[in-house]
Amino acid sequence: MDIKNDGARYAFVVRWSDPMTQIVWKYQFMYHTSDRSIEMYEMKNQKTFLKRVAYPALALEQLYIGSTILVYSRQLFIEDYGDDFTRKHLRGLQETTLAMIKPDAFQHTGQILECITANGLLIKNLRMCQLSVPQAEEFYKCHRGKPFFPCLTQLIASGPVVAMELVGENALCRWRMLLGPTSAEVARIKAPSSIRAQFGTDCTRNACHGSDSHESARLETCFFFIDRKLGMCARFRNCSVAIVKPHAVTAGSAGAIINRVMENFDVTAMELAQFTRATAMEFYEVYRGIVPDFLAMTFELGSGDFIAMEIADKQNPCMNPVNKFRDLCGPADPCIARSLRPHTIRAEFGINKVKNAIHCTDLEEDGELESQYIFMHEYALDGRAPPALVSKAPCTRKIESTDSSEYSSSGTCSGTTSGSSSCSSSQSDRGPPPPRFSCRA
Ligand code: CMP
Repeated sequence: MDIKNDGARYAFVVRWSDPMTQIVWKYQFMYHTSDRSIEMYEMKNQKTFLKRVAYPALALEQLYIGSTILVYSRQLFIEDYGDDFTRKHLRGLQETTLAMIKPDAFQHTGQILECITANGLLIKNLRMCQLSVPQAEEFYKCHRGKPFFPCLTQLIASGPVVAMELVGENALCRWRMLLGPTSAEVARIKAPSSIRAQFGTDCTRNACHGSDSHESARLETCFFFIDRKLGMCARFRNCSVAIVKPHAVTAGSAGAIINRVMENFDVTAMELAQFTRATAMEFYEVYRGIVPDFLAMTFELGSGDFIAMEIADKQNPCMNPVNKFRDLCGPADPCIARSLRPHTIRAEFGINKVKNAIHCTDLEEDGELESQYIFMHEYALDGRAPPALVSKAPCTRKIESTDSSEYSSSGTCSGTTSGSSSCSSSQSDRGPPPPRFSCRA
């Protein structure tokens, strides 16, 4: 029977943190597959909170432990299954496993993400890390003493890795099937379309790792996403920030967008995270009163998982990449982008001015600040002091216009021209903000 429409009622325990009072409320959350309707009971006072109502925007696949869903503008965190029936039926369908893109395949991160989503696995967590040799030895400790151990750990510490927690039915086996045989050479013969056949080189440099048992999956997931003892990647200088917006992540376009980014720029940090409505507003604060779609923009940014990246210039890491990266993203309005700059990311993946696929830093001086806003929590992990901010005079911020007049008839971008406004709360002179958005761990 199709689980998505089996007429069943699934129950979950969800929590909602009231941003005004900071009170955490717990609800029993029901989902009916027959008509995609939901209902909610507030647990402490045993009161109906939301009568059964159709909510077609929500799919059963989104309802797994650790997921955050948006219901009538509230971000609800799914803490647990709500009854034995749900636990019994969904646990097997929502298996998790650890996937890791190794340094030798890092440049293919976008293609590997495309492969994951095309095969129906969801990415619950994602984090780019730089492991030291002792950390790589810790991760692969079950292979200690084997002849390939030194080579393997050197390889893992030689560049960035992208760790992901995948979720789906038989996720562990399905991910290992997608990987193919351990040796990339064997994979090219026996499973030529597998990830290792396509992106691996040999037995050690085999592109990606996958947990080999449920216990390994649990330990390896803790290693990357719970223990969080790993060092940071972000540089916080000469950088721009890209955010693949929630609608594009949900549509499965993140891999293709990351491909476009990585073809043209170096990615120096990457993480899947979420904004609350309040932090989305704070991140976009400088657009308030300037961009007519401000509220809708914050709503979209806080509506689900996003993938944020710190971007550096490929040829010259000392160059500020903000303007060049804006060129790759294209005009804020995808309609304008499609007619004037058809090869830009927004032209290809954007839907409208709000769901325009990607956020990019607007002003050269804001790259570091936006990167700190997103990635600064990594400093808390290794106890280092954040980089000193150069104090700047209050900026006169020019915001991207969605008006076609900013583009010449020849279709070339003339830069930001309209919507100039003094910042009431300049992003340039506010200190490094604490990370108040949520990354899953
Ligand atoms: P991975 O899935 O990361 O799990 C352990 C890793 O050890 C494996 O992929 C390979 O990179 C490496 N490995 C396993 N067997 C060998 C081998 N015989 N020779 C070289 N490397 C190996």
